[in-house]
Amino acid sequence: MNILFSQTIPAGTKLIALVTNKGAMPDGLEPALVEGAKTARFKGSAGQVFDGFVERSGDILRVAIAGAGDPSGGENGDDRRTNLEKAGAALTAKFLTSGETSLALDLTNSGLSAREAASVLLGLRLRGWRHDEYRTRLKEEQKITLKTVTVVGAPESAEAAWKDASAVAAGVEFTRHLVAEPANKVFPISFVERCQKVFEGTGAELIVLDEAKMAELGMGSILAVGQGSEQPSRILAIRWNGGDAGAKPMCFVGKGVTFDTGGISLKPGPGMEEMKWDMGGAGAVAGAMLALATRKAKANVVGVMGLVENMPDGKAQRPGDVVTSMSGQTIEVLNTDAEGRMVLCDALHWAQQEFSPLAIVDFATLTGAMVIALGHEYAGMFANDEDLAAKLDAAGKATGDKVWRMPLSPAYDKLIDSPIADIKNVGPRPGGSITAAQFLQRFIAKGTPWAHCDIAGMAWADKAGTTWDKGATGFGVRLIDQYIRDNVEA
Ligand code: BES
Ligand code: MN
Ligand code: ZN
Repeated sequence: MNILFSQTIPAGTKLIALVTNKGAMPDGLEPALVEGAKTARFKGSAGQVFDGFVERSGDILRVAIAGAGDPSGGENGDDRRTNLEKAGAALTAKFLTSGETSLALDLTNSGLSAREAASVLLGLRLRGWRHDEYRTRLKEEQKITLKTVTVVGAPESAEAAWKDASAVAAGVEFTRHLVAEPANKVFPISFVERCQKVFEGTGAELIVLDEAKMAELGMGSILAVGQGSEQPSRILAIRWNGGDAGAKPMCFVGKGVTFDTGGISLKPGPGMEEMKWDMGGAGAVAGAMLALATRKAKANVVGVMGLVENMPDGKAQRPGDVVTSMSGQTIEVLNTDAEGRMVLCDALHWAQQEFSPLAIVDFATLTGAMVIALGHEYAGMFANDEDLAAKLDAAGKATGDKVWRMPLSPAYDKLIDSPIADIKNVGPRPGGSITAAQFLQRFIAKGTPWAHCDIAGMAWADKAGTTWDKGATGFGVRLIDQYIRDNVEA
């Protein structure tokens, strides 16, 4: 979607959109429109849209009014930013495939600040993303028609505010694209190639470890996961040095299992296709790095992604195998479907050794148990550091990428002691998300602030939400971006 700014409503405009707060109506509207809105019970609630037709100087115009809710926030527990995003997103949802090709968003008397206007635009753009690449026979009425949004009457600095927000939108969209792609298109090598392409010219540095390099470094755990696949594994690091030279970086690590069959501990057939998005953590890290590099964040940040495909094969690892991780800790592989932690442990260890980060936060579609616990509203967040946990919580609240703190403790940790090795890769069924987090914690050096976000319930949506259509959500990108804004750049 093309978002432009203009002083005046473009000639030939057929659709004008306005944004209004709850209980208020824009001034100067035709009585028929006001009456129509009233009859349709339009109240200006966040995300409500009313539209009607009016005659102005001989032309018939379609006028849509989007509700932004109560300006003091609070509606459904949402804040002002969420409500403004909902207003923009609702316009997109209504007009994306409506046949309308352009829309003039008239903010002249909206009273919105530049940042508020940018929130409306962010909602508008994010709700319009779709993955139609392989749908070659779409019916006319299924195709996207709305291509251009012209913003009129916004405060002067709105364009700059939008430029900043649009970098985040680009990051979210890149993540969604990676996550939505099937596993015959996005596998470790092609994931890396797609990153190399989009990061070209951004100034970010990409470091790629191939299997030979990973073996040399002793990454026996991630390599064991990938050994049953024809697709070679990779570690990808994306480094953005926008902060003070020599300042320690903040580090994000992502699980990038491009397809998770479960391996020899094969998953049941029905629903297995969902495991194409088992790289949602790595996708979020890549998209967040793109957002940061695009908006030239004044921060040093590195994103590390462990990329593998988990397949059953004659060469695949077996239940009962013992492997040695890069940290030197040995792992008893009781279940080859608990592969995410085996990918992350080497990625986390390498990231700490290679980059000496300020703090490290990983993102992973790690456990089905997380979905059982929190559903699709919050990602589970585990942390060894109160301050880091509080900051992630705040960034989640500020962006809508919400996280809910989960416990860690020695009693849970004990459950993954192995009789034959240092650690086993699964605990008992109860508390499955927690023992997975305990596994990761064993690979975090003492004194390094660390958090783990289990996004199994968040990377993919079966139905459309506020700022996303059904499919890949891009969860995590905005959380990471906001964390960097508030804590590293500020
Ligand atoms: N990728 C899955 C977790 C998952 C499940 C993500 C459903 C999203 C939706 C992970 O690799 C996995 O298979 N976890 C197992 C762990 C178990 C074997 C201890 C699980 O959750 O069942
Ligand atoms: Mn698995
Ligand atoms: Zn997995």
